[in-house]
Amino acid sequence: MNDLASLVESARADFARASASAELEDAKARYLGKAGSVTEQLKALGALPVDEKKARGAEINAAKQAIEAALVERRADLANRQLEAQLAAQSLDVTLPGRNRGTGGVHPISQALERIEAIFASMGFEVADGPEIETDWYSFTALNNPENHPARSMQDTFYVDLEDDEGHWLNLRPHTSPMQIRYAQAHARRHAGAATMPDVRVIAPGRTYRVDSDATHSPMFHQVEGLWLGENVSFRDLKAVYLDFMRAFFETDQLKLRFRPSYFPFTEPSAEIDLMFETGPLAGRWLEISGSGQVHPQVVRNMGFDPERVIGFAFGSGIDRLAMLRYGIDDLRLFFDGDLRFLSQFAGT
Ligand code: DAH
Repeated sequence: MNDLASLVESARADFARASASAELEDAKARYLGKAGSVTEQLKALGALPVDEKKARGAEINAAKQAIEAALVERRADLANRQLEAQLAAQSLDVTLPGRNRGTGGVHPISQALERIEAIFASMGFEVADGPEIETDWYSFTALNNPENHPARSMQDTFYVDLEDDEGHWLNLRPHTSPMQIRYAQAHARRHAGAATMPDVRVIAPGRTYRVDSDATHSPMFHQVEGLWLGENVSFRDLKAVYLDFMRAFFETDQLKLRFRPSYFPFTEPSAEIDLMFETGPLAGRWLEISGSGQVHPQVVRNMGFDPERVIGFAFGSGIDRLAMLRYGIDDLRLFFDGDLRFLSQFAGT
């Protein structure tokens, strides 16, 4: 084998050994680079006698082309191999079972809330939303809660270390009752000066907060406030409305209500509403579900109405309690743990 043939041979072997493109380019430099063996051969041509130059030049060029061809081929090889490795690494097994997107569901409390809103809407009640950070005027004072009433105490109310522009302390509302005042005030303003005023008929559901935590109490819980005020709205209407509500909510007429005398500063008279199922696993037990009463004249005044003309009733019920009874849940905390094993049982109900 002459020297050029062995040069081509050794270039092919070097290229074949290069397993990455950087190595291949290094090998290329050794042959075709500025100081590469082929280049050296071409430089050496100058020293040859004229008659040998032509033939030798043609041989070197042929060797150079052979090396270049080997280089191009090896480059393509390496690129192919890299692509194959990449494809193998990212391989997609189309026979694997698909990943489930998972269907969401409405939280049981939200489901209860939606039922309550639909039931009261069907009885002509508006649905109102209000602030969860309240002033103590709306949370207590306007509701006829005396300055030193224990309900205001630090023990069960979350106070925020801030006052509003008028110097009222802010708190996380401990009940939805402030919405009675807010909604009725807005209603009074809206109809100020009119010859007749339509009844105030509203429910205000939402989150409420108290320092309280065990299986049946959570520091954040849900209430729905109800208020119906007009010229001739009485306790009798409260009984009828609440009984209809309960029958619709639990989808049964097999239940009874009991209005048990109680005390709230914002109602007079006041009553706890107790519920008893006549059938089912809870049959025969009185369950306390709501506070209620005839709205106190002072509260009617604070709303902006004349208590000599406007009377009515209010109630405040625990939504979580109603949802627990409807779904047969014995620990309130389950609602707020976010455990999908629990929550998924309500998806699609
Ligand atoms: N706000 C009371 C509570 O959280 C419940 C309540 C009682 C609301 C009587 C009312 C009512 O509207 O008339 O315990």
